[in-house]
Amino acid sequence: MAGWNIDFSDKVALVTGGSRGLGKAIAFAMAEKGARVAISGRKQENLDKAAEELKKAGFDVLARTAHAGKADHVAALIAAIEELYGRLDILINNVGSNILTPSVVEADEGLWDKLMETNLKGAFLAASCAYPLMKKTGGGKIINISSIAARKAARGMGIYCVAKAGLEMLTKVLAVELAQDGITVNAVAPCVVKTRFSQPFWSNESLLKEIVASIPMGRIAETTDVVGAVLYLASGLSDFVTGEIVNVDGGAMA
Ligand SMILES: NC(=O)c1ccc[n+]([C@@H]2O[C@H](COP(=O)([O-])OP(=O)(O)OC[C@H]3O[C@@H](n4cnc5c(N)ncnc54)[C@H](OP(=O)(O)O)[C@@H]3O)[C@@H](O)[C@H]2O)c1
Repeated sequence: MAGWNIDFSDKVALVTGGSRGLGKAIAFAMAEKGARVAISGRKQENLDKAAEELKKAGFDVLARTAHAGKADHVAALIAAIEELYGRLDILINNVGSNILTPSVVEADEGLWDKLMETNLKGAFLAASCAYPLMKKTGGGKIINISSIAARKAARGMGIYCVAKAGLEMLTKVLAVELAQDGITVNAVAPCVVKTRFSQPFWSNESLLKEIVASIPMGRIAETTDVVGAVLYLASGLSDFVTGEIVNVDGGAMA
């Protein structure tokens, strides 16, 4: 480990879903710590906006559309990173979607598949494509963005809960499988974080009150709370930590 500082100046990081919300905050933090950053998402205009902000702040960024659940998109994204930077050290599987759905038995197959694709399959595809590149350069860090919903069934969020539970087991399985290649795999599991994604929760005053009452620290998370845990897991400070799920929830799961 190169000291106690978090310094990514020789590193390349990919943040999937990096065009807004948590992913954008993570991309900025990575870049501020010196990393060359790639961000992906479905919509070019969202990516262009985020890339513009990053460039304005003086950071190098590759912004490229890639649907997280489509193998050919993900393979092309990783190939573009390899071509431009020649390496990939940190993969942050941040894409997630569609938190609110009908109950599991009322949901149709298409909805089930869509949620599994974005919240679970995408992380499998990105890790699989990133693996040879990480291995080639001697190791890496994979961080999956889960949710405390992975371990707490909630009405109206059933498919999301199941997908995130799968993501947490994928984290552990990959940790065991990739340890010999010097790749650590961990997850961060936040409670409600104030982003567009969670607006139905924090914009409803009585619901927000209910959520906050379940969090011992008495507030929902800000993106900066989650960024702190991600920086730790992406850095040399966590070199012997793998297969872990770090809750960022103000004590909600304690
Ligand atoms: N916010 C919360 O309360 C909260 C709590 C716990 C966990 N999380 C997790 O944190 C992560 C980030 O959430 P967020 O709140 O930042 O969400 P967000 O604001 O909705 O941002 C989602 C990002 O992912 C991209 N995206 C969505 N679907 C995609 C797909 N199929 N392929 C590629 N990119 C896709 C979006 O860009 P495009 O729309 O252009 O594709 C956007 O950049 C998710 O995994 C979520 O489950 C969030």
